[in-house]
Amino acid sequence: MKKRVAILISGGGSNMIRLVQSMQRDPDHPATPCLVLSNRADAGGLAKARAMGVPTAVVDHRPFGADRQAFETELMMPLMDAKPDIVCLAGFMRVLTGEFVDYWRGQMLNIHPSLLPKYKGLHTHARALAAGDREHGCTVHRVTAALDDGPLLGQAHVPVLQDDTPETLAARVLEAEHQLYPAVLRRFAAGDTSFLDI
Ligand code: GAR
Repeated sequence: MKKRVAILISGGGSNMIRLVQSMQRDPDHPATPCLVLSNRADAGGLAKARAMGVPTAVVDHRPFGADRQAFETELMMPLMDAKPDIVCLAGFMRVLTGEFVDYWRGQMLNIHPSLLPKYKGLHTHARALAAGDREHGCTVHRVTAALDDGPLLGQAHVPVLQDDTPETLAARVLEAEHQLYPAVLRRFAAGDTSFLDI
């Protein structure tokens, strides 16, 4: 039986697309996409997911204001219906409560645009440039209650070039994300949680 994968997005969903394509294009892939869920109705990735034949759902966080638990109660509903074995955060820009994360403990992955433990949080590319780093990259990790923390499953490295801006560096890291996340998901769905370094 293939593992069912739900993917949570907030924006364009380029990582989501790569994850879905990697599952759909490989008949031997140990996982299959079951849901793309967004906290924004205008997330560009939603239409792309539907075009690839993946069911979508939206739970807007805004009506819930600061009440994260109420938001997550709603967020749970489409997830419960879809019954995922694995939940992939792919540019999902809401901080989740410990309770929500605990429910999916061991089954939830995230991609973050830095070489963790460096640069948790936002503006990772500008921070890498400001620090004068020669190397930057991205990380896929298991999600725990602490932000951008949890056991690392894989990292991809890119060089920082002399004339890089946060934008050019972000584009180079995003290409690496598109390699790393599908590779890690495939291994994870097959039961391999060893660290992948690319
Ligand atoms: C990606 O760069 C991802 O690593 C980042 O958001 C972008 C989403 O792009 N995630 C975070 O910053 C989470 N802390 P995408 O919608 O094109 O996949």
